[in-house]
Amino acid sequence: MSINVAIDGPAGAGKSTVARRLAGLLNFIYVDTGAMYRAMAFYFIRNHIAADDETAIAQACREVDVTIAYEDGEQQVVLNGENVTGLIRTEEVGNMASATSVYPVVREKLVELQRKLAQEADVVMDGRDIGTCVLPEAQVKIYLTAGVATRAKRRYAELSAKGERCNLEEIEKDIRERDQRDMTREVSPLKQAEDAVLVDSSDLDIAGATEEILRIIREKTAILKTV
Ligand code: DC
Repeated sequence: MSINVAIDGPAGAGKSTVARRLAGLLNFIYVDTGAMYRAMAFYFIRNHIAADDETAIAQACREVDVTIAYEDGEQQVVLNGENVTGLIRTEEVGNMASATSVYPVVREKLVELQRKLAQEADVVMDGRDIGTCVLPEAQVKIYLTAGVATRAKRRYAELSAKGERCNLEEIEKDIRERDQRDMTREVSPLKQAEDAVLVDSSDLDIAGATEEILRIIREKTAILKTV
């Protein structure tokens, strides 16, 4: 049976960086589920489909094929045969992904792919509903979070480093809205699974958060081995 590590939490808590590092250290496959929702969102934007047009979204879901591939160990998201990995990291796509991930048609499609990947290999998978819905049997579940102000500052530094013009207040507002939407949607809202371990990264850097989660993984999997 494969080992599954589920990492959930709000936008900007450091999930993807930490999950990628953990997968490298453990020699597991890293699955970034947010990138899949972003690829779908990118398709909707490109085809001028509005986030509130549920009929068009349902129709589009029948035409969209999202798969993932790995190049030098890095996840690549392939949308109808096109590698869109470099096109989905914008605020516009992130907000569209948050708005359209509320639809069951969108989620069903991606959850099926996510479960298949976790069945086939040892994975560190990050997202919003991995521990609660996608992989309820995951051996290790982490809820990684941080305060809104910390997350906004991190996002600001990230965008500024990329040379993008941005405004801290706007980023913080965006994060609050995204949290609100991700946590209150009807289907698979973001919430800590009952059996997940809470890790607050407000006062931890990436190395510190990685180390803390690695310690939890070792503890949990060592217990499993002795049971
Ligand atoms: O982690 P991210 O910022 O790349 O995710 C973008 C959006 O996708 C997020 O705001 C909500 C949605 N998402 C989701 O609903 N379920 C997941 N497992 C992952 C992401």
